[in-house]
Amino acid sequence: MKHALVIGGTGMLSALPLWLVKEGCHVSVIGRSEERLVHLRSRVQDSTCITPISVDYRQEELLREQIRWTVGQNGPLDLVVAWIHSPFKNVLETMAREVADPQQWSLFHVIGSRANPEEIKTGLSLDGTCSYRQVQLGFMMEGESSRWLTHKEISNGVIEAIKKDKQYHVVGILGPENRIPW
Ligand SMILES: NC(=O)c1ccc[n+]([C@@H]2O[C@H](COP(=O)([O-])OP(=O)(O)OC[C@H]3O[C@@H](n4cnc5c(N)ncnc54)[C@H](OP(=O)(O)O)[C@@H]3O)[C@@H](O)[C@H]2O)c1
Repeated sequence: MKHALVIGGTGMLSALPLWLVKEGCHVSVIGRSEERLVHLRSRVQDSTCITPISVDYRQEELLREQIRWTVGQNGPLDLVVAWIHSPFKNVLETMAREVADPQQWSLFHVIGSRANPEEIKTGLSLDGTCSYRQVQLGFMMEGESSRWLTHKEISNGVIEAIKKDKQYHVVGILGPENRIPW
């Protein structure tokens, strides 16, 4: 059974762990709120398919311990999806050091509309066994007006990127700038 980790998987990405379970994965999910993790787990038929990890990812040592623990329990990670508020560099690199294994694994890094994908990619120091992917969140046009993505659109966009194993994927659109809904 494949083992996937979703960092920040109890909010806008909560449909993703559910899809991964349907695809036959064991899914570890990181978030701080135990209540949100319990709620997520209650949404799958077999709750043992989800390992909830309640940890603040800014606490490096705790994060390291928790990833090491879930890898020990559920096997090496094949896939990591990360939605991490800035600064994310330390979190990703700490996680990657724990995941690093002779086998190849994929990291789908979800980034916001204002992020610079190239800058992020070159600034990250990840192990050679990691296939680094980016999913950038944009916005939607509806007729003449624009709006932010819904949670469903965000999760579906990440799922599409995983299915197609896309190196860089934009959910919605990123421009024109005068249509960005801020
Ligand atoms: N288009 C864009 O560029 C864009 C970009 C960003 C956001 N958005 C929109 O803005 C909304 C709010 O974004 P949001 O980031 O609050 O989304 P969210 O996905 O609802 O919440 C963030 C996720 O990360 C977890 N998390 C946050 N801080 C953490 C920490 N320190 N340690 C461990 N886990 C942590 C949260 O769980 P806990 O709170 O339990 O820790 C949750 O699972 C979203 O709903 C989205 O629609 C749009």
